[in-house]
Amino acid sequence: MVPKDERDNQVGRAIVEDDAALAAYYEELDGFETGALWTVANEIEPWEPTPSSAPTIWRHADLRERIFRALELVKPEQAGRRVVYLRNPKRRDVSACCGWLFSGIQVMSPGERTSAHNHAASALRFVMEGTGAYTVVDGHEITLGARDFVITPNGTWHDHGVREDGEISMWQDGLDIPLTNALEANFYEVHPDLYQKPNYPLNDSPNSYGAPGLLPVDDTWQHAYSPLMKFAWEPTYEGVLNYAKATDGSPYDGVIMRYTNPKTGGHVMQTMGAHMQMLRPGEATKAHRHTGNVIYHAAKGSGYSVIGGVRYDWTEKDIFCVPAWTWHEHANMSDSEDACLFSFNDFPVMEKLGFYREEPYRDNDGHQPVTGNA
Ligand SMILES: [Fe+2]
Ligand SMILES: [Fe+2]
Repeated sequence: MVPKDERDNQVGRAIVEDDAALAAYYEELDGFETGALWTVANEIEPWEPTPSSAPTIWRHADLRERIFRALELVKPEQAGRRVVYLRNPKRRDVSACCGWLFSGIQVMSPGERTSAHNHAASALRFVMEGTGAYTVVDGHEITLGARDFVITPNGTWHDHGVREDGEISMWQDGLDIPLTNALEANFYEVHPDLYQKPNYPLNDSPNSYGAPGLLPVDDTWQHAYSPLMKFAWEPTYEGVLNYAKATDGSPYDGVIMRYTNPKTGGHVMQTMGAHMQMLRPGEATKAHRHTGNVIYHAAKGSGYSVIGGVRYDWTEKDIFCVPAWTWHEHANMSDSEDACLFSFNDFPVMEKLGFYREEPYRDNDGHQPVTGNA
């Protein structure tokens, strides 16, 4: 086998020189569904993660009208969910947006609703536009507005809709479908009544668990995911602005905060986490890389990110991804306005499995040389 990496030319890696006797031996093993590990070892045990996804940006200016066309072409009853999914050019085989994460943009008209279902995959949404949207999670009905973040954790019944007096609404969906499928653990069920009947007071989840630092005294929540299912934009933005008064921020992420399960302080769901980060006017972070995949959504303002040496300019509602172990840094292009990035990730999986690792970019004062623009 021809080594692909100079580092493979050393004792400690597979450096067997093939010859006729070995070729015959490999053929013989092949007949018994076996193989010599040294023929594949360097490939299946890379020196470091070799991400299968390509850094990619999906610009809202390219997509909005095209997504709106789906309103005329299919009904939610036919499509299940009227979603245009974001396909990574190198992950078409598993319909992933990045790594083992799926993402798409869903659009619904006033009066429409999806049928209720549940799946082993977890889901989250970040609202892009519209009024009157709602989601029902295990009977908890939650109203949604622009830039709100909402979760529908694994195994929960969920459906969504837009009230008759609302506006056409659009939101980004994020799911761990590719991960759940890769682990061969996915299930899907359609609700026996097709739609849920909300059986709690409207917005009981944010009204019970949404006040900072407070939990109901008689709280009995037992699930592994957050009882707070909606993280509204206004308190999130206020929280980040307040934190900016108390911190210099992360050298790699600016003023960044993690959405948390108020019961545990941990991630909101077992497989996916999410952040809101603010880049202060003129701020340009340094580069780092880490395991885990991240999908970003420009929530406010405009800027650029350098990902794997390529510059991606973004503005509000653009979505881009940073594949695992890929250098990345972010910058706010405005000298007067802050810029905010919402992002979701598979960090809970990386952390629970002991795979999370991170390192700073040490050369060039922490900034990657830019080799191109996307
Ligand atoms: Fe779903
Ligand atoms: Fe990062």
